[in-house]
Order: sequence, then structure tokens, then C-alpha cells
Amino acid sequence: MEIFRVQGGGRLVGEVRVGGAKNSILKLMAIALLAPGRTVLHNAPRIADVAIMSEVLRRLGCQVEVKPDTEKGCSTDSVSIDVPEDVGTEADYDLVRRLRASINVLGPLLARRGHVKVAHPGGDAIGSRGLDYHIAGLRRMGAEITSEHGFVIARAERLHGASIVLEFPSVGATENILAAAVLAKGCTVIDNAAREPEIGNIVAMLNGMGARVSGAGSSTLEVEGVEELVPVIHRTVPDRIVAGTWAYAVAIAQGDVLIRGADASHLRVALDKLAHAGAHITDLGADPIHGGFRVQMTQRPCAVDVVTLPFPGFATDMLPMAIALASVSEGPSLMTENVFDARFMFANEMARLGAEIRTDGHHAVVRGKEWLSGAPVRATDIRAGAGLVIAALRAEGFTEVSDIHHIDRGYPDFAAQLQRLGAQVERVQVAEPELGA
Ligand code: EPU
Repeated sequence: MEIFRVQGGGRLVGEVRVGGAKNSILKLMAIALLAPGRTVLHNAPRIADVAIMSEVLRRLGCQVEVKPDTEKGCSTDSVSIDVPEDVGTEADYDLVRRLRASINVLGPLLARRGHVKVAHPGGDAIGSRGLDYHIAGLRRMGAEITSEHGFVIARAERLHGASIVLEFPSVGATENILAAAVLAKGCTVIDNAAREPEIGNIVAMLNGMGARVSGAGSSTLEVEGVEELVPVIHRTVPDRIVAGTWAYAVAIAQGDVLIRGADASHLRVALDKLAHAGAHITDLGADPIHGGFRVQMTQRPCAVDVVTLPFPGFATDMLPMAIALASVSEGPSLMTENVFDARFMFANEMARLGAEIRTDGHHAVVRGKEWLSGAPVRATDIRAGAGLVIAALRAEGFTEVSDIHHIDRGYPDFAAQLQRLGAQVERVQVAEPELGA
């Protein structure tokens, strides 16, 4: 098996480039299903999940080709998707369980084909993760939805516009309902919609395809249904969580790093927290090639409290990075998680690094130490894995992070990029420990 071996110590200095967001490209690939013909998506990150989503689309009858982007200085891909007229309608559990975002084919296929059968993804390491808001929204648009043998089965002759209020601004439910509404008859209003930049990017793509959606970035999306959509060429939004991970890594290890290709306006609260912790942040603008932001940190961080909330609040996906930072900060930090019910599982692995964390329900108190202590730990999900690696930058001795396939799902070339910034991080092959008789 492969692990990351991290030797804590040195500062991070240099430049990293952030590509497109995992949580954008996978959704844009599903949106492509709404229009027969060839869609091309640029700035796709080189992560395992793109290959899985490509397989989901291939099994629906699409031809998918992933090749390097031609833009200078970028290590990203372009994904071209040829969608047939009679695109398939079924996504099986073997893929859906590996990639939750497969559930995003539900809305587009229901709208295009009038019926769809998608395996229920179930919960995962960060929480229970229901589908009830997706289902309630689609039902209001006239869909009949049942759950049979582990599948969600949805049918509708022709969806109709509806007024939908989400109980919680769920990212996935907003995306599925939006994708269904663009081809529905009449007007749909989605209130309490998610406002994440990835949703704004979907709206831009949909409008490029001929949809009529307004309100992106606000809590109310208004959709005027159209008869058909056409394929487009579109660019994936930069990965704000990867960018935020780099920023927090610099604050933990100290140093001076330019994070190119990122958009600081997508990370306002997270960067504001870093500034309070003592970092100096310089915004270089949102130009995809020359823009980004710079993080400079020359002191041990001061403790800051964090409360996760839907965008524009502090992203739940950044919580492990905030806990890693708090673990080496001066003073106690209070962490409050409001989105997922099992994010604090990560605290147990951090405790193995000597972090002092006490959790109670959706709160945790972290008492920072000057140094953590290297140990073998296990990545339980993508963000927890990244959090452990950056915490290990400030741990004495060696930390070995296993189950790094989780990290590969979200962070292209993570170990090599850290090395280029001067960190002592290696990706190494080790033998699986043998169990005794
Ligand atoms: N929820 C329900 N019912 C629903 C939908 C959601 O109860 O029908 C609950 C969830 O259980 C959760 C909360 O609402 O407690 C928010 O879930 P949301 O639907 O917003 O999340 P998601 O769409 O499943 C995406 C990202 C996550 C990210 C969240 C929140 C993708 C593929 N995943 O998940 O990213 O944490 O939004 O921002 O876009 C990651 O990248 O590591 C990751 C987990």
C-alpha cells in the first residue's frame, strides 16, 4: 500500500497552482447530459474522481475523452463528452458508492428522458447525507419517486415549474433541482438555494447552453424552463478547498507561498480567520492564470474560533484544516460544525498526533501546542486526509498517513507539490502489516 511519510519541521516557500474544483467538474459532467452533442470542460483537476464520473457517463452511452489542457503552465485536463440522443437512464451502486456525486445525474436524466434509476449512495465517513431534499423538490415538479432495492427511481412525463423552499441550502439538492427545472414546463423558484461558487458556475454553464436561470450567488434561483439545450465549451471554477488547504498549510508550517489560479473571494471567511491568526494575505485578483493570493506567516498562529456554515460561511470541507491549525496555535479554539454529523471523527486521528481536542456534539475545543508529535495515522476521508498531512508539517519526527486514496480523490499531486514548497513529504510504497494468527 502507499502512504505519505511526512517529516515535520521546515517552512513552505514558493508557488503552487490550483486547478478546477472536484466539486465543480463532477457536477458539470452531469450537466452535460442535458444536451445531446459534444460538451467540452476545461480546467479539470487530475484526480481519481474524474475517471469514475467518466465511467458513470460511459455506462449511460456517452463517449468521454480526458486529455491535457493546452493552457500554458497548467497541469489540468479537458474533458470532452459526447452525449447521445437516447442517453441511458441507470447508474449502478458499484459506481455510485465510489462517487457520491454520481447522484447528480438524477436531475438531468429525469428532465431529458422522463425516467431514471440511480443507486442510493448511503452515508459516508463524514455523516448521514440524506437525499430527502432532492426528492421533495423533484416531487413538487411532478416527479413520481420511489425507493426500491437500494435505487431511487424517478418518473415524470414532463416536469412542471414549481415553487420550492429547501429546508437547508443543500448543494446537491440545489444542483439536482436546478438541472431538472431548466427543461421543465414553466417557471421554478428555488428558495434557500445553496450559494456556493460551484453553483454559480453551473448556472453560467446552463445559461450558455440556452437555459434561463437568474439569481446565481443569491438564495433564490429563478428558472424559466426551455424546450431544449445545446452543448457548450465551459471552464471549471478553481478549487477553493484545495486553495484553502494550501493557505492553512502555510499558516501551520510558516513560510511564504503564492497560490496561483485561486480566487480569494471564494474563501473570504477562511482567509479572514487566517489573518486573525497572524498571517499576511495579499489578494492578486481572480485571473485564472495570473491571479491568486499570497500567504505569508512568520510566527506561531494565534487561536481563532471557527463555525462552519453553507457558503459564504466557513466551509465544512475546511474544518479539518482549521482543527490542524488550532492544534498548533497559541491558546484554545472553539470549533463548531453545523453541516455534517460525523466530521469530528477526524479528531481521533489528530489525537494520535498529540493534539488536545475535546469534542461534545457538534462542538470541539482544541488547545494548541507548539509542536505535535509524529505518528502513524489514517485518512478517513479526503479532507481529513489533507488535514492530517498539513498538521504533520508541524509534528516532531515522522508521520505516516495511510489510506491516501482518499487524498488522491481531491488533491492532485499533493506530495510532489508539498515537496516543491520545501516540505519533507514522500509518497512511499510499504508492505501491508500482516495480522498475527
Ligand atoms: N442533507 C439532507 N438531505 C438532503 C440533502 C442534504 O439531510 O436531501 C443534509 C446532509 O446530510 C448534510 C447537509 O444537508 O448534513 C448538507 O449537505 P449538502 O447536500 O449541501 O452536501 P452535498 O451536496 O452532499 C457537497 C460536497 C461536499 C461538501 C458539501 C457542503 C460534492 C460532491 N460534495 O456535498 O464535499 O462538504 O457539499 O459544502 O459536491 C468533499 O469534497 O470532501 C465534500 C464532502
